[in-house]
Amino acid sequence: MNLAILGAQWGDEGKGKIVDLVAPHFSIVARYQGGHNAGHTVYVDGAKFILRLIPSGILHPGLTCVIGNGVVIDPRALFAEVDELGRAGIKVDERLVISDKAHLILPYHRDLDLLSEARRGERKIGTTSRGIGPAYEDKIARRGIRVGDLADPRGLEQDVRDNVTARNRLVQDNTMEWRPVLEELLQYGERMRPWVHDVSLMLSDAMRNGKAILFEGAQGTLLDIDHGTYPYVTSSNASVGGVCTGLGLGPRAIGGVLGVAKAYTTRVGEGPLPTELFGEMGHRLRESGHEYGAVTGRPRRCGWYDAVAVRYSVRINGLDALALTKLDVLDGLERIQICSSYRCGSRTLTEFPSDLGQLAACEPVYESLPGWSVPTRGVRRFADLPEPARRYVARLEEVSGVPAAIISTGSARDETILRGDVQGLKL
Ligand code: GDP
Ligand code: IMO
Ligand code: MG
Repeated sequence: MNLAILGAQWGDEGKGKIVDLVAPHFSIVARYQGGHNAGHTVYVDGAKFILRLIPSGILHPGLTCVIGNGVVIDPRALFAEVDELGRAGIKVDERLVISDKAHLILPYHRDLDLLSEARRGERKIGTTSRGIGPAYEDKIARRGIRVGDLADPRGLEQDVRDNVTARNRLVQDNTMEWRPVLEELLQYGERMRPWVHDVSLMLSDAMRNGKAILFEGAQGTLLDIDHGTYPYVTSSNASVGGVCTGLGLGPRAIGGVLGVAKAYTTRVGEGPLPTELFGEMGHRLRESGHEYGAVTGRPRRCGWYDAVAVRYSVRINGLDALALTKLDVLDGLERIQICSSYRCGSRTLTEFPSDLGQLAACEPVYESLPGWSVPTRGVRRFADLPEPARRYVARLEEVSGVPAAIISTGSARDETILRGDVQGLKL
């Protein structure tokens, strides 16, 4: 059976760890959206890997890793990652497949990302400045350059000239030359050629031959372009719908859906975060959780678990279960809060509001649970968790509406509690 693993909050939930953990049950791991704005951390035998574009299954020899058409690829970032993995002894060459329909991020997209943020001033999104939004803009405006276009140098020259000219009209403090952009691109095209395939066809053939696929989401549901806290979102469908459009598969190809959620909440960048903690407790979560961006190093905003937001994710994605991460970060707290509803003026909301203004005006309504003093770090059996931690998890399951099939108690593979199956798939 195939399984989608995606973020149930605002990104950085620990998707990389969970994908790496369950990847041995599958033959293929496929990314369906986002780009190198993602930073998925995986620890193997104490060595740390941060995967940006390459699926988090790459550390298991023999697994095929696929980058789908829904992903935007910066060739520089791709090859930097391939080379970095190569230096660490991980061979990527024979195992990477890239869709010919994936769009490219080019140097002008990065400039346009910075320009757009500067123009927004106070209302900036707080993007990763990787050119993600402008590359998806070009895709939707039908002027994007795709991986498959690298095979046609003449057509490519015209497209690069047009796009660089458009960039120079907007970014007026310096001029970009189109020739070096084209030349660099042609070199990358040459190097990428052996990996380029019709991904939809390749995946459906694999399924026919009984191979199981793991779909790896980037970012999180609340950062989804349609269902997230727009406009403070990324420019792709991080929610489950992205699997179909981003890989060219029908919905029945998705067997189960596992949402990854931290046992508290974080967000990096701007936009509403109802449970955000500003004082000592926010600082405490940030420091014990090492909540600094894997890609940009920015401090992440931290808050209590927001069950309203996670319930929304359960609905948007049809989540079967959660992988609950970073439980150990809460070790040693006297009391822990769970936001189970919002107060908005005189009204109590149990559903995540679809209007951003309303969301911004919401106050979290908390229930308070006792914390635990015995550390949970590294615990591998549910029964070995201190009793208040078991109660906390049970309450999170109740208020979120789905079971926690995986509980993560540390960043290493074996610091994990496996508690059953997702849609019949034994994890
Ligand atoms: P992703 O983008 O969803 O893959 O998440 P990131 O890699 O950006 O951030 C998650 C961070 O938490 C990484 O540094 C992980 O190594 C770490 N992590 C994952 N699970 C756990 C856990 O259960 N406990 C602790 N303490 N750290 C974890
Ligand atoms: P992973 O896959 C957390 C956020 C940015 C910003 C917004 C838009 O590691 O969970 P963008 O550069 O995409 O246009 O920025 O989205 N963002 C992420 N936040 N984790 C991520 O990825 C993110 N990718 C983008 O901080 O608020
Ligand atoms: Mg991340």
